[in-house]
Amino acid sequence: MIVYASPIYYFGMTAQITAAMQRVFAIGKPAKATKAALLLSSGSPNVYDGAVATYKGICAYTGIQDAGIITAAGEENGSEAKLNEIREFAKSL
Ligand SMILES: Cc1cc2nc3c(=O)[nH]c(=O)nc-3n(C[C@H](O)[C@H](O)[C@H](O)COP(=O)(O)O)c2cc1C
Repeated sequence: MIVYASPIYYFGMTAQITAAMQRVFAIGKPAKATKAALLLSSGSPNVYDGAVATYKGICAYTGIQDAGIITAAGEENGSEAKLNEIREFAKSL
């Protein structure tokens, strides 16, 4: 499985993870990947549409199943509640 993780920078993912996602085009669909997940952090809530659209587009294009998306805004970042949500998500995979 592939887990993409990025802070939100100006309503999208960072240049670094975007470059990594784009470079995978050169080798085609990752041969062993069947599932993916997306973890996003941000300062404000409700800023994820652009990043989620990119992620879902790549999942659909590559035929990789979206296993879930977790977001953390502001003080949710690093909170015990959010870490527990991520732990439960990981256990469910
Ligand atoms: C260049 C830059 C652009 C950012 N743009 C946004 C944004 O558009 N929306 C938002 O909610 N947070 C934005 N942020 C805040 C980051 O998403 C937030 O700091 C990060 O998710 C928390 O991770 P950190 O603790 O590593 O900084 C931006 C931060 C930086 C440095």
